[in-house]
Amino acid sequence: MAEKKAPRAYLYAAKKPDTQQEERLKEFLGRRYAREYELVYKQDEDLGNGFKLVVGDDVYDRSKQGRFAQLKEILEEVVRRDDDSSDVISLFKSAIDSWNVETLSREEGEVLTIGDGIAIIRGLDKAVYGEIVVFESGVKGMVQDIRRDSLGVILFGDDTDVREGSRVRRTGKTAGIPVGDGYLGRVVNALGEAIDDGGPIQSVDYRAVESPAPGIVERQAVNTPMYTGILSIDSMFPIGRGQRELIIGDRQTGKTSIAIDAILNQEDVICIYVAIGQKASSVSRLVEMLRKKGAMKHTVVVSASASETAPIQYIAPYAGTALAEYFMYQGKDVLIVYDDLSKHAVAYRALSLLLERSPGREAYPGDVFYLHSRLLERSARLNDELGGGSITALPIVETQEGDVSAYIPTNIISITDGQIFLESSLFFAGQRPAVNVGLSVSRVGGAAQTKAMKAAAGSLRLDLAQYREMEVFTQFSSDLDESTKKQLKYGQGLMQILRQPTGKPYPLHSMVIILVTATARLLMDLELKQIRPFIDDLLKHFESMHTGICNEIDKSGKLSDELREEIRSTAGEFLKTWQMQER
Ligand SMILES: Nc1ncnc2c1ncn2[C@@H]1O[C@H](COP(=O)(O)OP(=O)(O)OP(=O)(O)O)[C@@H](O)[C@H]1O
Ligand SMILES: [Mg+2]
Repeated sequence: MAEKKAPRAYLYAAKKPDTQQEERLKEFLGRRYAREYELVYKQDEDLGNGFKLVVGDDVYDRSKQGRFAQLKEILEEVVRRDDDSSDVISLFKSAIDSWNVETLSREEGEVLTIGDGIAIIRGLDKAVYGEIVVFESGVKGMVQDIRRDSLGVILFGDDTDVREGSRVRRTGKTAGIPVGDGYLGRVVNALGEAIDDGGPIQSVDYRAVESPAPGIVERQAVNTPMYTGILSIDSMFPIGRGQRELIIGDRQTGKTSIAIDAILNQEDVICIYVAIGQKASSVSRLVEMLRKKGAMKHTVVVSASASETAPIQYIAPYAGTALAEYFMYQGKDVLIVYDDLSKHAVAYRALSLLLERSPGREAYPGDVFYLHSRLLERSARLNDELGGGSITALPIVETQEGDVSAYIPTNIISITDGQIFLESSLFFAGQRPAVNVGLSVSRVGGAAQTKAMKAAAGSLRLDLAQYREMEVFTQFSSDLDESTKKQLKYGQGLMQILRQPTGKPYPLHSMVIILVTATARLLMDLELKQIRPFIDDLLKHFESMHTGICNEIDKSGKLSDELREEIRSTAGEFLKTWQMQER
């Protein structure tokens, strides 16, 4: 049997090495790889005094160009890290001092095919899932698919300069984005680069876009409310800090509006709005609005618009979550909105099909469920030892004709702690926000609701459920008895008070006053169309004439029987004068 031939190592240099040099190289190879190599010499005049040694995927570049490339990278890193170039000279100095002129080892692979933001690569056997690789043109990519003899890499930039045969090298770093407080008030892309006109962003750290969710012992129960300021949600489907509440509905049913109102209503909570696959113009309108209302100062917008490639849209929610985690681990409360995960699933489907993975249900790849649970599990309320910070998630999902049994909706419903279901028919009937009370639910938020809200909301949900049932039955009969008529009118009145324009979140006291007034049946004497104007005037009256009541509710978060009675009588009296004026 012929002896197995030793693998080859290639030495590129201008001059053939002498025997002594050759021995030293062989010894190095033996030490490094614990096996023997056949050293093949190839002449390369361009290398001058240097040399380049290629062993499999590993390249030891000791040429002048190689070392310059290494220096260039180090300097680029310095520039990236420090945007405020006040002391750039000393930074460069220390970078040059620490510049390691030792033989640079790196692994290189080669592009087999490229297109649609995806490259298939040969070589780089040791690359790991999620690792960043760099192409010759400087474009970065992430290893997304590992096969027996090739790698699928998604590109994070322009692929026009990447060609078949281009060299690719490993970085040993997992994909991540720079993070820091400097991100507040900014609009960034999925790689954390500024896309507004505020200049570069100062970062303090780099966080992996994919990182494990906090474990059970690292968490504590959800027990603090995250008010949205939207009456129909805070009263019946309360959201707690650390909760994941899905907003689901057909297109144009007010999904985004609910999330944005929730952002507008936050004061001590940092908000991250991740726009996936939306029109860039809609996102910029939204940013403009947040800025005008003063909400941008505590908000970061991460946008991967419809014109971005599938890989970029795919990575966006993970990047947003990495930013959220940065704040959470500082003990802060964060609200993150994913708008929307249907488009995210579509981007992932495109990417998977391009990677030639086999399609499953509705042509989505089989791991799309895992994809989203991995993402949403990162929302949590940390225990006090870890600072007690939290991430509350509001993922958004679009349905087709109200079908919640499609693949992506059922997946995400099962991953979240509840859903706000928005219905087109309600929306078009003018019932906005179009919350379907029967199909919406919040599984953990009740524990986080303040006593005042719990007491004021009372049986609201049940009353509305009864009303809906009755409404259906009574549609076909014309002569209704007096008590049924009253029940119906009461229900209709409740539906009226739940109507709320966008951009006008209610403070806690307003919600309590509205609920106490309505459930005391004070609105029964009003015509339906009078209810909203009356409520507006009533709130103004309380805020100008009874600030004590308002403050007490906001401060204590409680609603005693006496206070309830006081609200009731004050509202009753105001109703009388209001009706006089109306006549
Ligand atoms: N409570 C509300 N009162 C009045 N108008 C509203 C209300 N909520 C939403 N709208 C209006 O309805 C329209 C659609 O709202 P929005 O963009 O929030 O819906 P969407 O479900 O996110 O739509 P898309 O499917 O296009 O993302 C907007 O013009 C918005 O101003
Ligand atoms: Mg929307």
